[in-house]
Amino acid sequence: MAEKPWGGRFREETLRIVERFTASIGFDRRMYRQDIRGSIAHARMLASVGILTEEEADTLVRGLEQVLAEIERGELELTESLEDIHMNVEHRLTQIVGPVGGKLHTARSRNDQVALDLRLYLADEVPEILDLLRGLGEVLLERAEAEADLLVPGYTHLQRAQPVTFGHHWLAYFEMFLRDMERYRDALGRIRRSPLGAGALAGSPYPLDRERVARDLGLEGVCRNSLDAVSDRDFALEFLFAGSVVMMHLSRLSEELVLWSSQEFGFIELSDGFCTGSSIMPQKKNPDVPELLRGKTGRAYGNLISLLTTLKALPLAYNKDMQEDKEPVFDTLDTVKGSLAITVEMLRNLKVRPDRARAALKAGFLLATELADYLAAKGVPFRQAHEAAGRLVALAEARGCGLEDLDLETLRSVSPLFEEDVFQVLDPEASVARRTVLGGPAPDNVRREARLGWERLDAIWPRRD
Ligand code: ARG
Repeated sequence: MAEKPWGGRFREETLRIVERFTASIGFDRRMYRQDIRGSIAHARMLASVGILTEEEADTLVRGLEQVLAEIERGELELTESLEDIHMNVEHRLTQIVGPVGGKLHTARSRNDQVALDLRLYLADEVPEILDLLRGLGEVLLERAEAEADLLVPGYTHLQRAQPVTFGHHWLAYFEMFLRDMERYRDALGRIRRSPLGAGALAGSPYPLDRERVARDLGLEGVCRNSLDAVSDRDFALEFLFAGSVVMMHLSRLSEELVLWSSQEFGFIELSDGFCTGSSIMPQKKNPDVPELLRGKTGRAYGNLISLLTTLKALPLAYNKDMQEDKEPVFDTLDTVKGSLAITVEMLRNLKVRPDRARAALKAGFLLATELADYLAAKGVPFRQAHEAAGRLVALAEARGCGLEDLDLETLRSVSPLFEEDVFQVLDPEASVARRTVLGGPAPDNVRREARLGWERLDAIWPRRD
């Protein structure tokens, strides 16, 4: 059994069952790169302020690089009896470099160390999420441009409401994912702070250069209160919240893809590669991918609530409860990355069925509002115009025909203001084309917004490749 780094005041060994219960190495091993990077910056800083000699720092850095290489190659066995990644790394370092390894932890505690590791980890990963979100935004813009003219019913209450276009619909999701990008980018500014130097909770009596460590690690600054530095996990909560919102957006999109690919709607076809069959019903083609995306949203919400609950009412500063921060973060990270990657492919590969969408515009009186607007344009107060149009809907419904099938005489029986030109507004293309107000679905609008979208993406997160 490995000697405990804190063994000095203990006379009995930790029980195996306690080791197993308290260990975090099973999951915090994911942060080994960040842990070692943080230690290298710490060692260099210790030498820069004269706490270590340059030779000692060089020895530590070389040793840490070797530990890194051993972990990368899968040669180092990370053990539960050394509890976490921090002690596993330090233990191996000391085996490699000898007693000077014990100097690395000068002016540092695992409390500021673990906070730094998690911050560095997210600082590495959030940009990857931003790349994925950008990729998703790009597919949506491409589809919006290509499908700016293709009509589809728009819904409220899942009832056919007014015609819009596929392009306009994709742009709605573009806006959502763009906001998600802003959220992550903003969170990044608060993630990229160094807690190192906070020590266990009360700072350090050494003349540390905290800013130098932050700079070395590419962070934007330091946490300015030692108690807060070791106990703040707001940055992890923000990450979990941003992930919850992404998943919520993906699940709304998924729900629509499930509906739209059903025989009842038939507005899109998911490519075969994204569906599975049934072991009993030969005709089935199930939209498993969007269903699973929808389903995975639950775990993202759970992770957010889990960490909020863990942190609730914790006294300052570090408490072991906080070790429970990592698994939710890793799980949401994996879920969001995996979900975004598959959504990009799914959207790229689906086919729209404009014929089916156009046919759905026939039934459901989607142009009733146009009739009301027609009368309102002639001076009828909108409330009365609405009433008149409603009566025409009832008439058409009773006759089993569409509004456009009513003759002028019938229309005039409800309002004498109707004239021959009313039939021009009873056309879904014309209805959409007139909606040129900013944010409206007119095809020219959609094409303009789709072009502008590329600039908005660049402003938030330029392509990195
Ligand atoms: N494994 C611990 C965690 O993840 C590291 C910090 C331990 N600190 C302590 N005082 N026990 O939170």
